[in-house]
Amino acid sequence: MKFFIDTAEIEEIKSLADLGLVNGVTTNPSLIYKSGKDFKKVITEISDIVDGPISAEVTSTLGNEMIAQGIELSKISKNVVVKVPLTKEGLMACKELNNRNIKVNVTLCFTTAQALLAGKLGATYISPFIGRLDDISSTGLSLIKDIVKMYDIFKQDIKTEVLAASIRSPLQVSQVALMGAHVATIPPKIIYQMIKHPLTDSGLETFMNDWKKTGQKF
Ligand code: E4P
Repeated sequence: MKFFIDTAEIEEIKSLADLGLVNGVTTNPSLIYKSGKDFKKVITEISDIVDGPISAEVTSTLGNEMIAQGIELSKISKNVVVKVPLTKEGLMACKELNNRNIKVNVTLCFTTAQALLAGKLGATYISPFIGRLDDISSTGLSLIKDIVKMYDIFKQDIKTEVLAASIRSPLQVSQVALMGAHVATIPPKIIYQMIKHPLTDSGLETFMNDWKKTGQKF
């Protein structure tokens, strides 16, 4: 499973890229707002760091404007993937951008029916939001499982990859991996949480103390 990093914070992206854990990056208008930086500048900076898909989201709800923005965003770097919302206008933009060989990430997906539409219209990625479904007492993980299964049934026609989004815990990352999601977009904090285990820490402390007791030098 590919790891995309869900952030617009340049320093976070740099650190995780150095660790070799960044296959791509996803941003959205809220993450751009949080970064306090200019949208197009951030996307340019990210593309200088990461040689992988970088999702940049359109900022209009009108299909024609989404297409125009998508074309402009795609000129920033060959790695830009245009993110459009799963609305009628967004799907229209998805189809048109796909016709122009511009990659599209269809975002804000909450049902398998929506994912089917994006798949039929040639989306490169579908982004089902797990955490936001869990927030309203629905089951985000079963959505991932169902979309993976559905796309697999139609794999001759649908090439769209399932990009598990709105991830809130390390456990969800391993769960979507076991379900066969192609990609997970993960906030940096959760990647660091994935590394940690108290038994790793206590075990390492014991090993280091016992090594000291041997009196040996490496
Ligand atoms: C990524 O593409 C999404 O925009 C992001 O994962 C949403 O996450 P959130 O629900 O935590 O805001």
